[in-house]
Order: sequence, then structure tokens, then C-alpha cells
Amino acid sequence: MVQLTLPKNSKVTEGKVWDKPAGAKNLREYRIYRWNPDDGRNPRVDTYYVDVDDCGPMVLDGLIYIKNKIDPTLTFRRSCREGICGSCAMNIDGTNTLACTKGMDEVAGAVVKIYPLPHMPVVKDLVPDLTRFYAQHRSIEPWLQTVSPAPEKEWRQSQEDRAKLDGLYECILCACCSTSCPSYWWNGDRYLGPAILLQAYRWLIDSRDEATGERLDNLEDPFRLYRCHTIMNCSQACPKGLNPAKAIAEIKKMMVERRV
Ligand code: SF4
Ligand code: SF4
Ligand code: FES
Repeated sequence: MVQLTLPKNSKVTEGKVWDKPAGAKNLREYRIYRWNPDDGRNPRVDTYYVDVDDCGPMVLDGLIYIKNKIDPTLTFRRSCREGICGSCAMNIDGTNTLACTKGMDEVAGAVVKIYPLPHMPVVKDLVPDLTRFYAQHRSIEPWLQTVSPAPEKEWRQSQEDRAKLDGLYECILCACCSTSCPSYWWNGDRYLGPAILLQAYRWLIDSRDEATGERLDNLEDPFRLYRCHTIMNCSQACPKGLNPAKAIAEIKKMMVERRV
């Protein structure tokens, strides 16, 4: 895949103001970041008007309205439209969140301002390039690893041990947390970031997994784990209500405990 990034020193300029839908009585203004790698132009912010009487209530519904009825070139990711796939993560009204679970009425100002997830290369418009993010996920080997002979039916787990995965397994890898983390902004090439570290912890505390030592070895690094400075942006950003900062603190605790 070709790595596409914003042109260096590019400035975001005011873009096109699109016509209001004819006959609409209730309008919501959207201002949306636009960038097309193929037209050679700087990024811009286009203004659209959504007829809320002809549209669902969520921010994503407004984007789909714009794409279907006003400007088919507007590009964004979405799939499940119910907070499960993580693909519609974007920066709405200054906060990283999921467009499909954010109600238009939850946006405080009159204007719905939408940008791609911050500090990531942009593929086009609201689509960030998550290649590195997924490679980092791959690097923590997010699957069950065992040395014991496989059981005939299934790897069993007590209810108490299963409960330890609560607050972790729900992560949908939307990247809202990692792209709100200042440490990840500045050191994203070497720091794994909160989403991937939460995933790492999910495997570290899985009672069925038998690679805990190797997993900790893989994280024992001044950058991969220890660039977290407990700023807590990540936990505030998570649209699923998870707490990556706590998971990171637990990994650091495991590191200390294995040394004593
Ligand atoms: S707590 Fe750690 S991971 Fe979360 S935002 Fe702060 S530095 Fe980033
Ligand atoms: S921890 Fe939350 S914000 Fe981070 S990737 Fe998972 S679901 Fe998204
Ligand atoms: S469309 Fe799947 S999380 Fe929003």
C-alpha cells in the first residue's frame, strides 16, 4: 500500500459552501475536512447543510445524507452503524469518537465540525491511514498462545478468570484513544499507544494463555510501553467507556512484580 500523507506545510483553507437542500425547514450545518491526494490542492473545509427532517439522528446519518444527496465525493469509513466495527472513528467537535454513536443533538455548537483522527496520515477526507496501527497490533501477537497439549474440546476458564477480561475484550480497535494520546502523537513510530497496550494486557491476563513471560519481554522497552506518562486522554476519549490507562498501569505493575 502506498503511504499517503498530507502535503508538508499544507494549510487548511475555507472550501466550498454547498447549496442548502431546497424546501428544507430544519437545517444542521456541517463543516468537514476535505483532502484529495489526487488533485494537488491543499486541504480545505467544506460547508454542507443537512435536512434533519429527512435524516437519521446521528452524526453518521448526516454524513450519509451528504454523500447520498449533496456530494458523492465525500469519503469516510463506516460499516456497522452501531458502535461495533470501529470504522467510523473521527474527530467530531474536537473529540475523537464514533460518528455512528454520536447524536447530532450531542454536539454542543450549532455547527458540526468534523476532521479525521488527529496526527495520522490521511488517505482521503475523513479516512486515516491505520497501516502502522494495525502493524503494531500484529506485533503484540493478539491470539491465544499455549505450550500445553490442546484439550479435546476447548480451553477452559473459570468464571472469575473470565471476568478479568471484562473492560478489555470490548475494545473495537477504533483508535480514538491512541490518536488522542500526546505520547502517541510524538512517538507513534516507537510507542505502541493505549489501544495496542490495552490489547496486550487483554492477553497478558488471560488465564489460558501460556506466553506471559514472552509477552512481557516484548513490551520491556523504553518506548513501546514506557512512553505512557499517564496523561489519561485515552480513557476520556474511549467511546466504549474502557480505560486503557489503567490497563497500561497494570502492565507496568506486572513488569515490577516479575523483577521481585
Ligand atoms: S495515559 Fe498514557 S496512553 Fe493514555 S493518553 Fe496518557 S500517555 Fe497516552
Ligand atoms: S480502548 Fe476504546 S478508544 Fe481505544 S481502540 Fe479500544 S475501543 Fe477504541
Ligand atoms: S460504523 Fe461501526 S462503529 Fe461506527
